[in-house]
Amino acid sequence: MKDFKNKVVVITGAGSGIGRALATAFAKRGAKLALNDFNEHALKETSDSLAATGVDVFRKNFDVADKDAFFLFSQETADRFGHVDIMINNAGIGLGDYVFHEVDLDLVERVMDINYFGVLYGSRAFIPHLLKQPEAALVNISSIFGLTGIARSTAYCSSKFAVYGLNQCLMQEYAGTNLRIHSVHPGGINTNITQNSLDYKSAVNTETHDAFQKQFLKISPDYAAEVIINGIQKKKQKILIGKEAHLLDLAVRFFPSLGGTIVNKTIQRQLESIGLKTKTI
Ligand SMILES: NC(=O)c1ccc[n+]([C@@H]2O[C@H](COP(=O)([O-])OP(=O)(O)OC[C@H]3O[C@@H](n4cnc5c(N)ncnc54)[C@H](O)[C@@H]3O)[C@@H](O)[C@H]2O)c1
Repeated sequence: MKDFKNKVVVITGAGSGIGRALATAFAKRGAKLALNDFNEHALKETSDSLAATGVDVFRKNFDVADKDAFFLFSQETADRFGHVDIMINNAGIGLGDYVFHEVDLDLVERVMDINYFGVLYGSRAFIPHLLKQPEAALVNISSIFGLTGIARSTAYCSSKFAVYGLNQCLMQEYAGTNLRIHSVHPGGINTNITQNSLDYKSAVNTETHDAFQKQFLKISPDYAAEVIINGIQKKKQKILIGKEAHLLDLAVRFFPSLGGTIVNKTIQRQLESIGLKTKTI
């Protein structure tokens, strides 16, 4: 897909970070937008600022882990605009530093419900609409942590691997159709992901989150949005964002076990270099 003028683009998690940057970047290219977030205030801020510049925006505040709400949103979007061209399952949530055998399973399930089932429901609800268009794209946001396992990040990593797995299946299944599937793997993007994490308010983890944000999240969300849009235009199945994402992808593809160990050791060293002691078993 080369041109986005009058294309209908759906973006979940559009109240902040990459989602908000994508909404702005598509709006500049003349797209019409259907935006979601479960943070009503943040979603209103994104959509009001774009609507004020004349962009046609439909917004719907719901939790992507709510299957029924997602199907209603897909129907309402199709009714409102008459068609849907691009669906971007971007909404996601982080969880801090936990030793696996100590982590609260309710937190793990909530991460899976949002990061994996939210993406699955969004894909399932919107693909029937996307298949009606001559050209369409489904963009599911995974992570570099959907490419290699990271110690003490089981919930987040597993959810992002699951998204990558879903994307791989969909690429095969819809290969002969009008629909392109894009699996997106950002490196560290400077967004509100740490502050929005499930456990950020817990004092124990705030230090970990802040240190992580400072050390790892350096790429601007606007740059991330441009890389994603470029990837859609070039029909790239795997969209890597940032130098570290490219390096990590190469390392774990060619040296799966050694690559994973090197990545983990590097992260640990970087955290320790800023005075952060990670939990060990
Ligand atoms: N920031 C990074 O370094 C990074 C790296 C790799 C992948 N990602 C992924 O990119 C995506 C966007 O994250 P971001 O960095 O822009 O974070 P962010 O916290 O700035 O934005 C995420 C948005 O999603 C919304 N959201 C969260 N859970 C939701 C739910 N259940 N229903 C509806 N909306 C919900 C939040 O309210 C927020 O507005 C996420 O899937 C994240 O996992 C981010």
